[in-house]
Amino acid sequence: MPFVPYTCSMILESTAENIARAATVLQEGGCVAIPTETVYGLAARIDREGAIREIFERKGRPADNPLIVHVASVEDAVALVREEDRDHLRRLANNFWPGPLTVVLTKDPSVSDAVTAGQHTVAIRMPDHPIARAVILAAGAPLAAPSANRSGRPSPTTAAHVEADLGPDLLILDGGPCAVGIESTVVRVVEDGLLLLRPGGVDASSLSHISGLPLQRATAASDLKASPGTRYRHYAPHAEVVIATDDSTIHGLVTEVDGRAMILVRPGVSLPFKHAVVSSLTEQDLYAEFRRADDLQLARIVVLCDDVVRSREALYNRVLRAVAAAKDEDPGP
Ligand code: TXA
Ligand code: MG
Repeated sequence: MPFVPYTCSMILESTAENIARAATVLQEGGCVAIPTETVYGLAARIDREGAIREIFERKGRPADNPLIVHVASVEDAVALVREEDRDHLRRLANNFWPGPLTVVLTKDPSVSDAVTAGQHTVAIRMPDHPIARAVILAAGAPLAAPSANRSGRPSPTTAAHVEADLGPDLLILDGGPCAVGIESTVVRVVEDGLLLLRPGGVDASSLSHISGLPLQRATAASDLKASPGTRYRHYAPHAEVVIATDDSTIHGLVTEVDGRAMILVRPGVSLPFKHAVVSSLTEQDLYAEFRRADDLQLARIVVLCDDVVRSREALYNRVLRAVAAAKDEDPGP
């Protein structure tokens, strides 16, 4: 028999018993990883400062990047923001929660600076995932949870991704692959409407249409300073990510790296040549494909971005960020 090294994994099936176990860890001031509909999160109770510090340490997260608070009810969210902002919050929450929309409002003084990284605002969302909400309820307090990846790596969309970045000594509740696959939309509520800080799971035009509020895209450095996560090197696989605008350039981009490339094309598009690693470009699979390219030690990921892809704002935004990260550029908002 070959020697099989003993590896300890803490990926647990999300049974009622394991949810209770996760809740105990959280109550006792620890962190656990939980599935959400967008990506997996590394969660801690907002009133456990040691656990909040542990989140920053485990992720290698810059200290000035605030965390999103996850709630299981609208009223729990309302208690986290100042009185003047509560009606705005209710209006957005009633339309979009539970779901992949994070709302940034002025915080109630009770919310710790450790969670908001010293900002006077707090980012809140109610996840549309039964396991996430069950853990929040069982933990007995809202949970701060950034994506459960090492800072600068693609967000995790499976429990195995979390373990690869942050394990093995972390309790990870398995909820299967995330249905949305990219992170939530982040909006700041301002006097005359909404300011989009990060495109994500809720489409910006439906956000504006359904809420009846005008939406602007954040471009000013001052707006983005408040949302530091938009500035950091992000979503970066080790492989270089490059964009092809039409299929005639793909072949050259692949041969330049001796064929050691993955090609991502949206479903329904076929290539005029054969290549070993062609995968489908979708919101659900983008981060998993980035990680797979690295597992295969490929040198390059070529992403075919036609008009249809460019019109999918959140997907295209994540591709642009990965390209900028590969060039070590500031990706902008
Ligand atoms: O889908 C998601 O949002 C996932 C799941 C786990 O909920 N979470 C997530 O968290 O993506 P994170 O920490 O990876 O990204 C949070 C983003 C960052 O860009 C951060 O700067 C921004 O939200 N953010 C958090 N608090 C903020 C605040 N008070 N003002 C402005 N931006 C804020
Ligand atoms: Mg993140």
